Amino acid sequence: MHPTHRPRRLRTDGVRPLVSETDVSASDLVAPVFVDATTDERVPIETMPGHERVPVDQAVERVEEIRETGVEGVILFGIPESKDPEGTRAYAKDGVVQRAIRAIAADTDAYVIGDVCLCEYTSHGHCGIVEERAETDPTLTVKNDETLELLADIAVSQADAGADMVAPSAMTDGQVRAIREALDDAGHESVALMSYAAKYESAFYGPFRDAADGAPAFGDRRHYQMDPANRREALREARMDAQEGADVLMVKPGLPYLDVIADLRTEFDHPIAAYNVSGEYAMLHAAAEKEWLDLEATAYESLLSLKRAGADLIITYFAEDIADRL
Ligand code: PBG
Repeated sequence: MHPTHRPRRLRTDGVRPLVSETDVSASDLVAPVFVDATTDERVPIETMPGHERVPVDQAVERVEEIRETGVEGVILFGIPESKDPEGTRAYAKDGVVQRAIRAIAADTDAYVIGDVCLCEYTSHGHCGIVEERAETDPTLTVKNDETLELLADIAVSQADAGADMVAPSAMTDGQVRAIREALDDAGHESVALMSYAAKYESAFYGPFRDAADGAPAFGDRRHYQMDPANRREALREARMDAQEGADVLMVKPGLPYLDVIADLRTEFDHPIAAYNVSGEYAMLHAAAEKEWLDLEATAYESLLSLKRAGADLIITYFAEDIADRL
């Protein structure tokens, strides 16, 4: 008796690459960059080994390091010199991210994406204007419609500085339309928009909140970010963002939400982005430090899995390391 089928025939070293369905290349990856207005030297981020907050005057150098590995896309996050309840430093012409974008756009060929949110800039750490009494009443948090104007101001200020793409991550209803309209009114019709369409209220953001100093001072983000229990809701969110004019639809986090990435891939023709978040990065590093996992192999397999699920592009803290190896 011989087996009727022998899938193992296609697993030899000679033929494996010919029949491989998915791959990861440097051109799929976007590297996060943290620019910090409170320091004049690079500060390592403890929970994210290998990553640093860099002062604005080193933003260009930092981006050139990334480009040397073959990665051309960067997404910028800022740590402002001061915070206030309205997050005014998020949309200031001379804000930390705006200054960095201006320098990077002038001096490099990188593709520059601005993260559009308020949590790094507000004194309370929420992603928008909060209700009076929110501090004492956990059912009150971000005022949706008032926040829209500020998000639009952030996006326009980043586009004015030279951003190629803006990526709203505040989970404010109507943010894609508000930002698209404001960009077009300001003459930035060619600036692209990638929406964090399905952004979950995830415990995997922990290390980022240290890195960008954006943890909420009270309450949590469950009134605006999505419930991790919900899969169909992601399709509704993505459909609204697509209708409002998003060019790229993102799912965040990545690995725990492969089903959601796959759903969006089947449902939409838009490019799909996955955000392989700080916790996904930190946990592999922690395990590798104990020599329980091989860092490079697990990082590569993670990115490959995100591609296999349907992501076209991946925002990842592994971008440089993996691109270097490819
Ligand atoms: C918020 C924002 C967050 C991340 C990117 N933009 C986190 C949050 O909601 O606290 C997280 C990224 C990561 O964990 O890598 N504007």
